[in-house]
Amino acid sequence: MVDRGRTQEPAWKPLFDAYVPVREWLARLAPDVAIVVYNDHTADFNFDKYPTFALGVAERYAIGDEGFGTRPLPEVVGDAELSTHLAEALVYEHEFDLTLCQELAVEHGFLVPMNLCFPHAGSGWPVKAIPLQVNVIHHPLPTARRCYRLGHALRAAVESYPGNSKVVVLGTGGMSHQLQGKRFGFMNEKFDQWFLDELERNPEGLAEIGHQQIMEEAGAEAVELIMWLTMRGVDHVRGSVGAVSGTACSRKCARRSASNLKGTKISTAAVGSPVMMTKPQPANITTHISNTRG
Ligand SMILES: [Fe+2]
Repeated sequence: MVDRGRTQEPAWKPLFDAYVPVREWLARLAPDVAIVVYNDHTADFNFDKYPTFALGVAERYAIGDEGFGTRPLPEVVGDAELSTHLAEALVYEHEFDLTLCQELAVEHGFLVPMNLCFPHAGSGWPVKAIPLQVNVIHHPLPTARRCYRLGHALRAAVESYPGNSKVVVLGTGGMSHQLQGKRFGFMNEKFDQWFLDELERNPEGLAEIGHQQIMEEAGAEAVELIMWLTMRGVDHVRGSVGAVSGTACSRKCARRSASNLKGTKISTAAVGSPVMMTKPQPANITTHISNTRG
């Protein structure tokens, strides 16, 4: 929808308007680096070898081809120095055994949030970006608790970096959705709103949620939500979180985002990934964020 210039069409406008607060917040924040917690949908990794957690440590990341050609988006510039520091801190100090990627093509799980969060006409993206990939498609998946703890470690790793970079951590992934089987198109707005509330008020409790519960209540692919807990784990000491996910909560999310503006080195935001289904259901698009290619 973005590439085709259709975001202002009546059916799609409410969805894309929900991203305006986070885009404005990020513009004010002006981060140097965005660490994007996302999942690869077999564009680069595949089922023969699928890492639980993978960190980009490259200077640049190519735009992946997911079978439709590459999207007209600028190449992603990384921050190899910060990545190397994160890798060493996370592996040596916090004992997260990451796969380190010196080459990595990023795909819609990474690019849709970037596309919706940052302007990128002409001169490229306004931030460097570091991909942090989480396996949410090939079981066994990391637990929600493990993702949350990764966020704790990530915060400590960023804070120990001797550089001056202003870092934002983006949690991504779709809220309730299922893209196959008898429940194709399934969404659960009530669950989504509950998840957002818990994410804000009770992340410790939310981190105990199981994959099965998420998949039963919110659809198989909603298990992507465990990635939001990594973002929330980064923010655990301050207790505020910026979250944008669909149109229903845009006002609430703007308020939450604003609470993060108090000049710290590291900030966080959750950005639901729109999923384009083959049968768009505009009436349901409000809290759900449907799929892939923006
Ligand atoms: Fe996905």
